[in-house]
Amino acid sequence: MLDIDDIFSNLWTQYTTLNPEVQKIHDLFIAKGNEVVNDHIALRTFNHPKVSKLVLAKPFLERGYKVCDHYHFSEKKLDAFHLENAQQPDYPKVFISELILDRFSKQLNHEISLIVDQIPDQTLSQPSFIYSGVSWNKVSKATYEKMREESEYAAWVAAFGYAANHFTVKVNSLKTLDTLEKVNQLIEEAGYEINTVGGKIKGSPSIYLEQSSTLANKQAVEFSDGSMVIPSCFYEFARRYPDKSGREFSGFVADNADKIFESTNASVN
Ligand code: NI
Repeated sequence: MLDIDDIFSNLWTQYTTLNPEVQKIHDLFIAKGNEVVNDHIALRTFNHPKVSKLVLAKPFLERGYKVCDHYHFSEKKLDAFHLENAQQPDYPKVFISELILDRFSKQLNHEISLIVDQIPDQTLSQPSFIYSGVSWNKVSKATYEKMREESEYAAWVAAFGYAANHFTVKVNSLKTLDTLEKVNQLIEEAGYEINTVGGKIKGSPSIYLEQSSTLANKQAVEFSDGSMVIPSCFYEFARRYPDKSGREFSGFVADNADKIFESTNASVN
């Protein structure tokens, strides 16, 4: 059986292929004398029963993870939860969101059904489903653009399929950079862009979590009618603070995450 380390390693390989800048940023932290600890990964899906967030959670639930808090994003029409490793709390958390399909048009629902219906049962039944990418006939550029008008999130999943949307550097574990300001500065000086939606730093010590992220890089993606350059994945940075109990806050803050989601928006890029 694939162990949890294999799963994260395979997700990382796929993710850094989609966005090679991430490996360079990771290596930059190492070159500065840091150890890079992954705070969390994020996965995206639809609330369709075949591919719901619970389906994506399965490989983690079978390997010692448990569902913790739930989140709702009314404007983006998303539900989410996060999982933590019950046996090994230092393992990355897993944030899984799903698009609430009945809040969208018949047209969008039709396109998503076409996609989901084509995913082979054999693919769905494996833990590797979560990094299976696109296992359906590619959508057209026009379909992608049409989806974007309703949901950038839906269009992203249609284009990239199942993959980690981001990994996250835990700033608390960096030795030579102790604030998000310093991390952002390093990233910008190296020539990468930081997502400025809602300010470069989302959150504050008062809500126990500060986050920032790069903007998704632009990747040439094959559509059914040719290739187009669109935003792919991004790298996130998170600094956690002790909560009222004195323990490090291990959850997520919907208002921060709402803006982090926009790191893959074509309109922001
Ligand atoms: Ni995140």
